[in-house]
This record gives sequence, structure tokens and C-alpha cells, in this order.
Amino acid sequence: MVETILWTDEGVVMIDQTKLPHTTVDVICRDYKEVAEAIRSMVIRGAPAIGVAAAMGVAIGVQKSTAENLDAEVDLICATLDATRPTAVNLFWATKRMKSLYQTLRENPLAEIRAALIEEAKQVRLEDIEINKAMGRHGAPLVPDGKTVLTHCNAGALATAGYGTALGVIRAAVEMGKKIDVFADETRPFLQGARLTAWELQQDGIPTTVITDNMAGYFMKLGRIGCVIVGADRIAANGDVANKIGTYSVAVLAKENNVPFYVAAPVSTLDLTLESGDGIPIEQRPASEVTHVHGVHIAPHDIAVQNPAFDVTPNRYVTAIITENGVARAPYKESLAALARKR
Ligand code: MRU
Repeated sequence: MVETILWTDEGVVMIDQTKLPHTTVDVICRDYKEVAEAIRSMVIRGAPAIGVAAAMGVAIGVQKSTAENLDAEVDLICATLDATRPTAVNLFWATKRMKSLYQTLRENPLAEIRAALIEEAKQVRLEDIEINKAMGRHGAPLVPDGKTVLTHCNAGALATAGYGTALGVIRAAVEMGKKIDVFADETRPFLQGARLTAWELQQDGIPTTVITDNMAGYFMKLGRIGCVIVGADRIAANGDVANKIGTYSVAVLAKENNVPFYVAAPVSTLDLTLESGDGIPIEQRPASEVTHVHGVHIAPHDIAVQNPAFDVTPNRYVTAIITENGVARAPYKESLAALARKR
């Protein structure tokens, strides 16, 4: 399976997701500013993978620091990482986890602090893979056998430390012996579906068909889709789900066509401080992602452009939310809070 992100003696190594699927090349981040830039520029992307990168960013920042005031330096490192992308809550979850550990160790010798932060960042990565496998075990029974699963964006091994959230559930269903195939929405404008989901599922030999985003309704109406499974970047206490732009349209189409709409996400993606999805910050990305496809300018020069990277699907469209602690169903306020408490 693909290694999305690794801690090495040379630095934080990530597969460059902006170059996939045709070029497989690694990027080595040797300080926290390079990690922050890798997150901002989407060399690494996907909520859980961003969380792992942020944890490693804090660890490498403290390794390289020559600051006299390490408390202030850790604050600066975390603030720099936090400023990269606003929507995926896993980023803030990870920097908070690393900062909390630092605070318990701050009186210790520097070498001990550094070693402990490296271990913690590696642990965040390993835990993520285990969490995805647990999500797969909970989610696989929900996947209808002999049917097509539609997914949007990339919520796979590349969006996590390995195995994936939505694609983890699909992988687990295949491992259970279910005969399924996948329709991958291409996911304009960044094309995570066509470039990344298609690539990683093809590597696993899971039959996959790429469709453009505007074809999903057509195939649902024909009865071709057994269920939809997507990941999430942030889930509010009431079960409203922020995920890649276009997810909301897929969810509405799914309800209209009586297709179950599942969200697979770790508990670290829950933001129970937000009552509803209205409070989730939506990242606005550069206009060039919309006006250009692979460097080719396809829109008139100087045209107005909007490029929100995420949308929020209201909880009424969500059939169930699959986490590592079990499956939540409406009313989500109670079911998500119970799963968040579970260890
Ligand atoms: O902009 P991206 O590529 O980081 O957006 C990723 C998504 O929206 C994923 O669906 C989400 O992070 C879940 S990944 C397991």
C-alpha cells in the first residue's frame, strides 16, 4: 500500500499528491515551515493526513529549534501550521495534541522533549491506520453486496496515514468477500477523484469507473448506485458534515433516489464545539484552480470566479456516520456524543 507520510531521519517524507497519478515522487520537509507549505499547497491533503503532517510538523519544528524561549517557539510552530487550511479540524486536533504533550514535558531536558514529540507524531500516524481499519470493520456490513459504491473526492490511503476512511470501508467490504465496484466522481476543480481515488483503487485491483461530478444523478436514477460513501473534514455536533465541494449535491441526489448516504470519519473529525455546520469555516482556494486545467487556461481572462473548497451537507441527508467507535445514526447530537466518549 502507498506510504502517504513517514517520519525519517532526513525529515518528513510525503508522496507529492499534486503530481499523481502520472508521477510518483516524494517531497522531504526538513523544517516546520516546509511542512506548513506542503499542507497549504496540497502536496499532502485529506483531513486525517493533514493531522498527521501537522503532528510531524510540530515534532520537526522542535527538533530544529534554536530558540531561547521554546514555549513561544512551540506557539509559533502551531500557529503557522494552524494557518495553512481552515476547514479540516484534524489539523487543529493534532497541533493541540502535540502542544498538550509539550506542556507536560516543558521542564524536562530538551533531548527528552524532542524524543517524546517524535514518538507522539509517529504514534498519531500509526493510530490513524488502526482507526481506519476499525472504521472499515464497522462500515463494511453496511455496503450492499454486488452493487456499485459512489464516492466523492479522495478519502483513501492518500488522505490518511493509510487504508482510508471512505475507501477503507470499501477495502474492508472487498476483504469480506463482497463483490463491489466503485464509481469515483472526478471532483472538480482539484480532481482528487480522477487523479487520486482512481489511482489508489486501481493499484488495489478494485474495479473503478471515473465519472464527472454532474453524472452522479444520472447513474442514481438508473438504479446503478447501491450506496454513497464519503469522508469528512469536520462534523458538527448535530451531524452536519463538511466535506469536499460537491458532496452536498451528491447527498441531495442520493436522498431523492433512495440511495443510502454514508460518511466515514474518525472521532478526531468531530467538532462537538459547533452546534451545527453553519459555524464551519469554508476554505476559499485560488481562482486558477477553476480557470485552469493542468496549466491550460479554459475560461476567459479576467472572468469572476468562486472556489469554495468544501460544502456542508445537512444531517437530514446523512443515513449514518461511521467512526472507529461504531456507527452513529440520527439523532446525531446524542449518537455522536456517545461515540466521542467511547474509547
Ligand atoms: O481539499 P482536500 O483534498 O484536502 O479535501 C479532502 C476531502 O474533502 C476528503 O473527503 C476529506 O478530507 C476526508 S479524507 C479521509
